[in-house]
Order: sequence, then structure tokens, then C-alpha cells
Amino acid sequence: MIYTEKVMDHFNNPRNVGVIEDADGVGEVGNPTCGDIMKITIKVDDDDTLTDLKFQTLGCGAAIATSSMITELAKGMKIQDAVRISKQEVADELDGLPAPKMHCSVLATDGLKVAIDDYLKKHGREPLAGEIKSADPNFDPHAEED
Ligand code: FES
Repeated sequence: MIYTEKVMDHFNNPRNVGVIEDADGVGEVGNPTCGDIMKITIKVDDDDTLTDLKFQTLGCGAAIATSSMITELAKGMKIQDAVRISKQEVADELDGLPAPKMHCSVLATDGLKVAIDDYLKKHGREPLAGEIKSADPNFDPHAEED
């Protein structure tokens, strides 16, 4: 399988790894079939701007690279825009992913969505993303159509 230089860079030198201890929102998604798990913590300021994001991903190279990329993409964005980042946009920013690995980017986009909704719910606001399949422990992204 051929990965782009950007994928390899984000896999070898992932950005924003870790956990924000006083996070405003937390998202945890996973796939019990392949064992990949992603946790993302976010800080949001008073005007709904994402000021910091950190992730921990236990998973394949594509899952790590897409997690790293989404933290870079979303930093400085309003949550209303960040919640709409698609797996295709993340893959495009990495100059593409091999087709069989496209599903791996779902963990990154879904993790961020869950974290944003967690933040909104904690503040008594309506969630933006709604139901996230990979937040369900029985979800299998490998069964998803790409
Ligand atoms: S192999 Fe399952 S998310 Fe990458």
C-alpha cells in the first residue's frame, strides 16, 4: 500500500498528541473489530473557536495520520465549521489515502464531532453532530461504504 509523504510525516511526527487535562469537550470513538481507538480533547473559547485540540489514537498509521491532521485543520475554526469537516477533506489535506484506508479517517472526524457535542451538551446547548455511529462500541467502520 502506498502512502503519501504527508501521511508518512503525520504518522512519524504526529501533531498535538496528548490529553488536555481541563478540556471543554471529550470525544472517544473506536472500532472493536480492528481495535482502533481515538480520544480527542478540545478547548473552546467564549466565541466557539477551537483554541486547542489533542488526540490519542491507538490504531493504524492512517488513523494516526488523520487524527493528527484534523487537530491541525480544526485549530482556530469555529465549532460550527469544524463539526462539518469530512473524511474526504482530511484525506485531501494528506494528499490522499489509499482507498482501503479511507474508512480510517472516520475515527478522526467522528472523534471531533463527539467532542464538540460533548462541549455543547455541558453548556446546555443543542448538539450539532447528533448520533455518531463510531461512538457506539458495536460500530465497525470496516463495514461502511466509502
Ligand atoms: S485499520 Fe481500522 S481504522 Fe485503520
